[in-house]
Amino acid sequence: MGQVKRVHEAMAAAGWDAILLSASSSVQWISDFTGSFGYALITTDDALFITDSRYAIQAEQQINDLEIKSFGSPKNIYEVLSDEFSKRQVQRLGFEPSITFGAWETWKEKFHGVELLPLGDLIPGLMKIKTDAEINKIREACRLGDACMQRALSMVQVGVSEYDIGLDIEFFFRKNGAAIGFDPIVASGPNSAKPHARPSERKIQRGDFVTIDLGCTLDGYSSDLTRTVVVGEATDRQCEIYEQVLRAEVECCQMLVAGANGKDVDQHARNILDEKDLGQFFGHSLGHGLGRAVHDPGRLHFTADEPLTVGQVWTVEPGVYIEDFGGVRIEDDVVITASGPEILTSTPKELTVV
Ligand code: GLY
Ligand code: MN
Repeated sequence: MGQVKRVHEAMAAAGWDAILLSASSSVQWISDFTGSFGYALITTDDALFITDSRYAIQAEQQINDLEIKSFGSPKNIYEVLSDEFSKRQVQRLGFEPSITFGAWETWKEKFHGVELLPLGDLIPGLMKIKTDAEINKIREACRLGDACMQRALSMVQVGVSEYDIGLDIEFFFRKNGAAIGFDPIVASGPNSAKPHARPSERKIQRGDFVTIDLGCTLDGYSSDLTRTVVVGEATDRQCEIYEQVLRAEVECCQMLVAGANGKDVDQHARNILDEKDLGQFFGHSLGHGLGRAVHDPGRLHFTADEPLTVGQVWTVEPGVYIEDFGGVRIEDDVVITASGPEILTSTPKELTVV
């Protein structure tokens, strides 16, 4: 089923007559349009995509399920939207809560006679459950992520800088028709204690943990993959930390089944790390939704007190980060199927000493 049909059904169930999508992630999700300016106005029985003249041709090429309207100077978006609201006799309009305060102030002023109401979780709720077509695209993005990881790991050796590996990751994705999903993380030695370290000029040294976190956006969908290796020789402490993070990761991936509770999966990772007094070094959530965006709606966290469902795609990424020592993160992407978790990323994850 296409996204427009899913939205129409959800709107009917929730009693919405008209909604306006303005966040680029949800506009891309419903339309497949990848330009930077677009709105989707969905009413009970139609779906309109609005952009300006810069994107008129691109919109015709990319969008199948929505009627397309483009405008140029001297019209502006507020006039165009107001006209469309009038034509459709829109009185109550659901808007995405992510709009800025500035947009809210402007919309209140420009959209006379239209009551603006926050949409709540309607769109994120749909975005969390991927269609088969979306899952296939994520699968392809994961394949390319694995290929990139294999190449990046082969570059890890004493004397190579984090920056050189980071640059190669970006180049690899671009050369293979993808975009980087986020700035790659290549963190060596003490830098690996920073979960979101940026590649630096630091040269890899013997004894380092090296964490590489990379992902691409391919055909509009994302992958997100992390591996940590040790350079030269691993100490007992490094092995202990790595094995505990690995156990947490493997067991939590297997817990991703329909009906499980996201909060419990996150807690399980913390319990395993606590066995070795390592939970105190794991500050971020266990995982996040993955789809159009690298951080799609949904978190595996203590706040995620709801049952998981078939069609959701999650990252699972426990980590331990110890200042002045280093850190380990292991991350895979997992889709929940009717027969259990399917791990979409396949780079080996047993402790590797390079
Ligand atoms: N891969 C980066 C993140 O999940 O934040
Ligand atoms: Mn991630």
